Amino acid sequence: MKVDRFGESFIWGASISAAQTESATDSGGKGPSIWDEFCNRPSRFFKKHPIKNSEHLKNSADFYNHYKKDIDHLKFIGFKHFRFSIAWARVMPDGENINLEGFEFYQSIVAYCLKNDITPWITLYHWDLPLALEKKGGWTNPEIVNWFDHYSKTCIQYLPNVKNWILLNEPSVFVGAGYFFGIHAPGRKGVTPFIKALHHANLCINKTYYSLKNINPDLNVGSSFSFTHIESTDSKPQNKKAAKLADTLINRLFFEPIIGKGYPIENIKLFSKSQKNYLKKDEYLLKTPLDFIGVQNYTRELFKYNFLNPLLPIKHIPASKRTKELTMMNWEIHPPSIYHTLIKLSQYQLNTPLYITENGIALNDVIGNNGIQDYQRIIFYQSHLQEVLNAKDEGVDIKGYFTWSLIDNFEWAEGYEPRFGLIHVDFVTKKRTLKESAQWFNQFLGRKLDSTLK
Ligand code: GAL
Repeated sequence: MKVDRFGESFIWGASISAAQTESATDSGGKGPSIWDEFCNRPSRFFKKHPIKNSEHLKNSADFYNHYKKDIDHLKFIGFKHFRFSIAWARVMPDGENINLEGFEFYQSIVAYCLKNDITPWITLYHWDLPLALEKKGGWTNPEIVNWFDHYSKTCIQYLPNVKNWILLNEPSVFVGAGYFFGIHAPGRKGVTPFIKALHHANLCINKTYYSLKNINPDLNVGSSFSFTHIESTDSKPQNKKAAKLADTLINRLFFEPIIGKGYPIENIKLFSKSQKNYLKKDEYLLKTPLDFIGVQNYTRELFKYNFLNPLLPIKHIPASKRTKELTMMNWEIHPPSIYHTLIKLSQYQLNTPLYITENGIALNDVIGNNGIQDYQRIIFYQSHLQEVLNAKDEGVDIKGYFTWSLIDNFEWAEGYEPRFGLIHVDFVTKKRTLKESAQWFNQFLGRKLDSTLK
């Protein structure tokens, strides 16, 4: 597979997010975020710490002080696009009032990107809500729509050289894991917080899309969605029905309202009548003509019918029970998933360009005598890119691909063991080391690696 097959205008980039890489959690006037608070929770003998090995995001890669080095690496690998996020609590410590020093940090990143001919793509919300706003209800408070709008408008005002904006990163994950299962910050559980957070996230996408475009119609404003490919364990009708329900809960619920199809909730018995009404009452407001859709796919999941749970009659079959092709996240390595995801999206006939804004693999990369030989990651990228190309060849409008991730980082509740980077980070010394996969990308992209770069 040659890079030219993707076409000259196809863009190549790498992604990171603020909470996972910046460290410096209270430097430069930054306020606390829900993830700072989540990591600060004490371990008690009857209650485990929410993060594996009781890790803390403040010990991540210190991108705050190493951003130039990381952008140098990105450039030398051969990427021309860089996706990163703004920590809302860095630029607005209480969620509403400006901290200039915070904006200056992002202005320096943007300036450094542009100086190096790298195009910035900024995610406005990658899960690190200011704690002050969570104390007022966070995503369950309808006011979030105004808080997010004010924050986003301020960001585009302070970063006028940035054209590409991603509104929210994967609502299904921050709403599902943070407000239903309680395994991500802010650790809330239940159907009611889930319903509210889901609806408010969708309202945010809609309102702020129009706000930003009204201020500057030339901006390229999209949003990123998680799309997990769902299959049933076999072709038995009740298992297929269960897989359909799982697909609705995991994918469609978060995407279809935004494309004007409303909430697909008729068959969801888990939601009460009043919860359904809450979603339905202004679902007609949600249709948003996003300039692009950010597609994030990592794996597939399998489901079957579960007669024991009449409210939610589905059973998830964990990947570890069905395959040995697992990543450090215990996710199945299944390249056709990204192809099926792209094909399914094209069937909506939206006429909206797609960008893969995340795709990657977590391994347990260790530095040996010959560096970091992450061949499994190279194979992962080769096979997934082939599937992207297959979809593109069939006419799907895919305009770019961002790897997850540029550097090893804090993998939320999983802590530091799963390493997703093309660049290894020693979390103690903060030393960066390019992995074999970074060298592979460099060759694939046809750039010459600067040998002075270590
Ligand atoms: C996505 C998320 C990223 C990263 C990745 C790998 O859901 O946007 O922040 O953690 O998954 O798990």
